[in-house]
Amino acid sequence: MSHIFFPCRPAISCSHSHPFRASKTVRPIASSCCNPYMTSVWTMLSSAAPHVKSRCPQYPGSSIKRFPVPDDKLDWNQDWPQYDPVSYTAPILLNKPTWADPDIGLFSPQFNTVDGAVDRTSFEGSYKVEDGKPLNPHGRTGLIGRGLLGRWGPNHAADPIVTRWKVDEKGAKIHHSVSQRPILQFVSIKRKDCGEWAIPGGMVDPGEQVSLTLQREFSEEALNSLSLQPSERAELYERITKLFDSPQFQVYKGYVDDPRNTDNAWMETVAVNFHDGSGDSVSELPLQAGDDAGQVQWVDVDSSFALYASHSHFLELVARERKAHW
Ligand code: BGC
Repeated sequence: MSHIFFPCRPAISCSHSHPFRASKTVRPIASSCCNPYMTSVWTMLSSAAPHVKSRCPQYPGSSIKRFPVPDDKLDWNQDWPQYDPVSYTAPILLNKPTWADPDIGLFSPQFNTVDGAVDRTSFEGSYKVEDGKPLNPHGRTGLIGRGLLGRWGPNHAADPIVTRWKVDEKGAKIHHSVSQRPILQFVSIKRKDCGEWAIPGGMVDPGEQVSLTLQREFSEEALNSLSLQPSERAELYERITKLFDSPQFQVYKGYVDDPRNTDNAWMETVAVNFHDGSGDSVSELPLQAGDDAGQVQWVDVDSSFALYASHSHFLELVARERKAHW
């Protein structure tokens, strides 16, 4: 996720403890000529995202235990004088890395707006700020401060879901024996930090267009672009730009139930499906793991394949949209 032209970002910790339990509600969103991802789109209601991993008892990468928050005390409007959240800022942030904010008090971020190059707006709409600190729009998490996250408030990520049809040696689609539906494959990476399989996503850099983040993260993690010479990198860029520029399906945009979330910092993402329908674009490129990815491969899209954070749910939405096996 980091690269020579972009500041490095924090290691991502994983939680196996809770399945993603988002509502299955989907709604269409309007198409726009200004957004390449809005040509054929259904996006999940972001407000329906759950808040389960965000309350995982032990904070990732630490021995810190969250103050337990029952379902009926999630809402900030619910009076709860006994609420005594733990304060935690990961040691990595204390070294003041370039990808992270300073502590509140040492600077005055402009929340709910694009603050210089840093986008502090939320896909959830306007969030509350109390005593100078933003409040998680999905409620209490049992932990204050930023934990492992660099930004106060929303931390924006992007997830490129690159798919193709699984075909036999004659090029015919292979159907699943039970569902009878054609099987999709997607490019999956094995994360070095937690060993879980995941979509090759990453953080949006300050001022970066999400479309660029999607392509950059895919190139770095699944095609190891960081190891290439500038001329080879330019050639690779040209080859994959066709796919990344073609009409796409925006799978999800909103809050993510991520175990790193806190009362004052949380993850949001845009997940977009890039489908190589004819199998002659990215499908022909040799995959090579790079940056934070330990391994990379085409994996069958199937509900039994466990994935990092809420990635499995994103794939379910892709399978549904493309009438594929799930
Ligand atoms: C990951 C994304 C993930 C997001 C939210 C980011 O750090 O790179 O793949 O969707 O966090 O969990």
